[in-house]
Amino acid sequence: MSTLIIIGAQWGDEGKGKVVDLLSERAEVVVRYAGGPNAGHTLVVGDDKIVLRLTPSGVLHGHTQCVLGQGMVINPAVLIEEMDTLTERRLSVDDRIFLSDRAHLILPYHVTIDSLREESKEGTKIGTTKRGIGPCYEDKVGRRGLRTGDLRNLDHARDRIAEALATWSATVEALGGQLPSVDEVMAPLEAQAKRLVPFITETSTLLEQWARGGKRIMLEGAQGTLLDIDHGTYPYVTSSSAVSGGACTGAGIGPSRIDRVVGITKAYTTRVGEGPFPTELDDADGQHLRDAGHEYGSVTGRPRRTGWLDLAALRYARRVNGLDALALTKLDVLSGMKELKVCVAYRTSTHEHDAVPVGDFFDAEPIYETLPGWTDDITACRRIEDLPANAQRYLAFITEKTELPIDIVSVGPRRSETIIRRDAFDG
Ligand code: GDP
Ligand code: IMO
Ligand code: MG
Repeated sequence: MSTLIIIGAQWGDEGKGKVVDLLSERAEVVVRYAGGPNAGHTLVVGDDKIVLRLTPSGVLHGHTQCVLGQGMVINPAVLIEEMDTLTERRLSVDDRIFLSDRAHLILPYHVTIDSLREESKEGTKIGTTKRGIGPCYEDKVGRRGLRTGDLRNLDHARDRIAEALATWSATVEALGGQLPSVDEVMAPLEAQAKRLVPFITETSTLLEQWARGGKRIMLEGAQGTLLDIDHGTYPYVTSSSAVSGGACTGAGIGPSRIDRVVGITKAYTTRVGEGPFPTELDDADGQHLRDAGHEYGSVTGRPRRTGWLDLAALRYARRVNGLDALALTKLDVLSGMKELKVCVAYRTSTHEHDAVPVGDFFDAEPIYETLPGWTDDITACRRIEDLPANAQRYLAFITEKTELPIDIVSVGPRRSETIIRRDAFDG
């Protein structure tokens, strides 16, 4: 077993950072392949907390090679700041961060356009992170984007930026904003290019070499299945391919290389931003989940919307990602709740669905089953047998309804607060 994909099975923030950090003890290469600084992956080591936006969550383990793949969108200022923070923590970046020459660059006008649109009264408000993600991917697909490799030739970069600015000018004017000039965009970029060019390389070739050499590679998803541009709750999605298939295009490796796909899910559900959320709770239980789970966005600080676990959505995630197993986080947050509801299917005006009905999702009513809760603090449990009987029952119910084994159960934010049932890299 050498190549593993770790994917968010819900709407993001499932705890990918914690799980990837933990598994990085055994991984040799960790790759981010999608999204950009809209991601916030939290790692808690001892009393220390670090939130990574762009760098793979394996970076705290000094032995790992860390790749930022071409499916990503990179804000150079954010990446440099993150590398500085890592250096301050005495983590070397020079010989172990590899930035794809094909990743696209988020430039200040992308951030401006994202914010203007979100603040405008016109059109669909997505509730984005306002980090310029959508406009950057639009430039990519519109074939006028700037790639990291273009930083090697700043005259060429200048021409590309001029073209993009010309394309956006009417939109920005209509939104009442103002675009920077080409010179204003170029000014910081020159110093940023100097700093980043040494890290830029053809990462797909490196991954091929490492895979042939039998190295253990972990592909770290960002966002989540239901935020995926194709498979998510469109249009309330992000602009990248967040599912497991995106790992191949976003890292530049073929599907035949993938050995296992693990979906991460919380023991309940959260979502940040707008869009449908069938099991959302707007009551004391919802507030309890928000308080006990500290459900406030790690990028924007926004309170996360909270709700019951949605197994119909997880079955959908199993299908579109080809999941082999689940890793379940935040089971500890459910401690003390008398009863736990779990969505097993949806009812719409026309019929019942056992997975996400794309066309009908907006009027989907959850069908619940109710399970008994438990009161004990479970953060010290290290084996499934240590968990209260009703917690074990909750896990067994998830496996029964999703037909997926649960490889990892997380019972707290720290590395040690984890029950590992099956080592992800074992064949
Ligand atoms: P990611 O984007 O998927 O990496 O998730 P985030 O880091 O945005 O959000 C997950 C939050 O839950 C972070 O604050 C983690 O420290 C925390 N966390 C992860 N696993 C657990 C767990 O099992 N229990 C508790 N209480 N917190 C956890
Ligand atoms: P991680 O990797 C949770 C959400 C935003 C918004 C929608 C579009 O930490 O799980 P965007 O800025 O991407 O155009 O916003 O997607 N979103 C996330 N929600 N976790 C994330 O990342 C997210 N990245 C984007 O809140 O609803
Ligand atoms: Mg997050």
